[in-house]
Amino acid sequence: MNAQDYIDREDRVCAPTYHPLPVVLCKGKGSWVWDVEGNKYLDMMTAYSAISFGHCNERLTKVLINQAQKVAVTSRAFYSDQLAPFLEKACALSGFDMGITMNSGAEGVETAIKVVRRWGYEVKRIPTDKAEIIVAKNNFHGRTTTIISCSSELEYQRDFGPLTPGFKSIAFGDAQALEDAITPHTCAFLVEPIQGEAGIIVPPEGWLKEVRRICTEKNVLLILDEVQSGLGRTGKMFAFQHENIMPDGIILGKGLGGGILPISLFLSRKDILSLMGPGSHGSTFGGNPLACAVAHEALCLLEEEHLDERAAELGAYMKERLCSISSPLIKEVRGKGLWYGVDFHKHLITAWEVCKRMLAKGVLSKDTHKSVVRFAPPLTITREELDFGLDTFEATLRDLEKS
Ligand SMILES: Cc1ncc(COP(=O)(O)O)c(C=O)c1O
Repeated sequence: MNAQDYIDREDRVCAPTYHPLPVVLCKGKGSWVWDVEGNKYLDMMTAYSAISFGHCNERLTKVLINQAQKVAVTSRAFYSDQLAPFLEKACALSGFDMGITMNSGAEGVETAIKVVRRWGYEVKRIPTDKAEIIVAKNNFHGRTTTIISCSSELEYQRDFGPLTPGFKSIAFGDAQALEDAITPHTCAFLVEPIQGEAGIIVPPEGWLKEVRRICTEKNVLLILDEVQSGLGRTGKMFAFQHENIMPDGIILGKGLGGGILPISLFLSRKDILSLMGPGSHGSTFGGNPLACAVAHEALCLLEEEHLDERAAELGAYMKERLCSISSPLIKEVRGKGLWYGVDFHKHLITAWEVCKRMLAKGVLSKDTHKSVVRFAPPLTITREELDFGLDTFEATLRDLEKS
């Protein structure tokens, strides 16, 4: 069977909620993936930043197999020997006291929403059903019905109403707007430290510090969605560390599962999370021993191999190279660590076209919002591999400039 056969079959049975690039992947190792026809590609997109440790990381795969042969799923009806070591590690790295484990990033965000509302009612004494959460315009927090209700993207919401009330949206990076939007009913500000799906939008320096000050003064919880920015991606273990602040809670996902399994986590303080009693929340697979064992090992790997520092170093090099590409097609380069968005002039070229041309030259990336090509290589990528990716990107632009 050739690639087109797989594409035709998938298109027949899989609902068209994505618009994939025309390549059929069947194998991955480190920074590379292969298609069914044997072609090799450098992965500069890593499943929307989820493969931080490279494909099929050997150390993580070993833990996966070992744990799978012991016990994979127990449910939280019982204790397991894997949950506490994983959560202890996550708390030690982040400075939080406790966590709730879920499966997808969106579930982690849903968890945070429930927790901050409960805190709003039980601690802040907000009248029943009046709690408000402030979010940023152009956010991306996932695809559940409640989460899309706080989106400013109409296509994410179209025909999915009635939407969930209780959200208020302000401009990203605008501290004054946050201050003005807070009312006695505000329980939390939920925000990405860097907006990923919006096109890697980096807020002004000092903004997060100011946000922390405002939230503390107004008794509002600051919850950071670090599903994409966390775990080394921006050159620090967590993006909030760039501004030396401590949020009241963070959501982690994507790379947490070592690029092997889905697992997400809401981390916060004991005084907040102890408001959640038995029956308030749950998930059959959330915190399963298999995912916890792999995630624990992923956190150890991240720390022992200093992948955050590596992302800072290689990221500085990557940024310098991207910014030095002089092309009339490029409008702006944005990002931090090993995470960049190259924004193209919409009237000259689509990001989709750039990605398709790079695919033909052996590099995988993906467009977002039509004009942005995102780059989120594995944090384990070598300098030579990165150079291949960037050389290919540059060569692609030269071709496109001529056509
Ligand atoms: C910041 C952020 N939050 C939440 C999510 C949702 O994660 P998932 O797709 O695992 O539900 C994403 C996914 O891209 C994300 O970037």
